[in-house]
Amino acid sequence: MSSNKKLFIQTLGCQMNDTDSQHIAAELEKHKDYSQTDKMEDADLIIINTCSVREKPVQKLFSEIGQFNKKKKEGAKIGVCGCTASHLGKDIIKRAPYVDFVVGARNISKIKDVVDIKGSVEIDIDHDESTYEFATAKTNKYRASVNISVGCDKKCTYCIVPSTRGDELSIPPEMIVDQVQKSVDMGAVEVMLLGQNVNSYGRRFSDGREKSSFTKLLQEVSKVEGLERIRFTSPHPLHMDDEFIEEFARNKKISRCIHMPLQSGSTSILKAMKRGYTKEWFLNRTEKIRSLVPDLRITTDIIVAFPGETEEDYQDTLDVVRQAKFDQIFNFKYSPRPGTEALKLADIEVPDEIGSARLIELIELHKRHLEAIMPTYVGQTLNVLVESLKPNGEICGFTDNYLQVFAKGSDELLGKFVNIKITDNTRTSLKGEIVQ
Ligand code: 5AD
Ligand code: SF4
Repeated sequence: MSSNKKLFIQTLGCQMNDTDSQHIAAELEKHKDYSQTDKMEDADLIIINTCSVREKPVQKLFSEIGQFNKKKKEGAKIGVCGCTASHLGKDIIKRAPYVDFVVGARNISKIKDVVDIKGSVEIDIDHDESTYEFATAKTNKYRASVNISVGCDKKCTYCIVPSTRGDELSIPPEMIVDQVQKSVDMGAVEVMLLGQNVNSYGRRFSDGREKSSFTKLLQEVSKVEGLERIRFTSPHPLHMDDEFIEEFARNKKISRCIHMPLQSGSTSILKAMKRGYTKEWFLNRTEKIRSLVPDLRITTDIIVAFPGETEEDYQDTLDVVRQAKFDQIFNFKYSPRPGTEALKLADIEVPDEIGSARLIELIELHKRHLEAIMPTYVGQTLNVLVESLKPNGEICGFTDNYLQVFAKGSDELLGKFVNIKITDNTRTSLKGEIVQ
């Protein structure tokens, strides 16, 4: 019998939050008989799954729930989950008393227990969720996301995540492999392994078992039959040792697109951020990995205007951008976050207009790089996993190195690999014709 109770869930922030939202929805479907709706006005339960990495999404939370409260169906409940829930806790209910419950980023397994308890707040960052068997999350049919760890042991001085998600615990490898297998059984061809710091995997399990490593996990996951592509995010440049890079190059199932979050190209700013590596180490790692992996694409995260960032420091960042030739950059202007070490550096904050100008220049530099690189794909034939069909009859898919490609096609191609001869490009995607 289909359920009458409807859940509307809104996600702010990162990929991990998207997966968390899928877990929340799956838990509520399995244990509380909710089914999802994309119409907030029809929902009996509205959940907003938040991010607090930067200040903007936090401001957005309160304006968004205010709107939900005005427009919701009579009697509908509102819950706030995610990192802002961990960080603000009961203050959310103080500020917005119509919020029914608050569930932190490391307490998702409790959602079924608190959903019917008005005023409940579950935000324990030491809660062990690493062995909780979540209901299988429903994802894009061909792509699944699987968590490999919870929390983060790093203490990057700008980052609020360790205080919202707690210390790192690795999820046992057999649970991960089982989850990957289940996803493949449901039609997935590609899996995204998720953690705050994936390549420190295996240092601590909650049952005290022997340490393992991310390289070993990659080897185990790649044995899953029917799985064609493995992606992961985010690795930490500090832990990109030779063993890891060699496995990356050797393992044919691993996508040739890697995220290498630079944050800053200045060794002294990296030190102030407590990133643990230097400009030279980062460049050495990008060179090594590029030399072993043909057609590799590298994406990155960069923060400009970290407190104390001088013009010279910023020029170092531009220098790394020029040398590393990133294929995609997620740029951020430093945002002071509560409880972080960098907050103590308020007296050396970079003026906002300088931060904005640096951000714009960085974006322009990257645009010029994309304008040079993207046309070089025209004329090449690329192998593409077809993931969706657009209303205009175009299929959309991704190459092994994660280039987005469009072509005229039909729904029989969904989930298949096809060869596409590239005829045109934009700064961010390619267009072509299917060839045999
Ligand atoms: N200010 C700006 N950007 C931040 N990030 C994390 N914390 C902050 C902050 N306080 C960025 C980093 C990280 C990405 C997920 O968000 O670049 O890699
Ligand atoms: Fe934050 Fe650093 Fe952990 Fe990433 S590695 S989640 S930036 S503390």
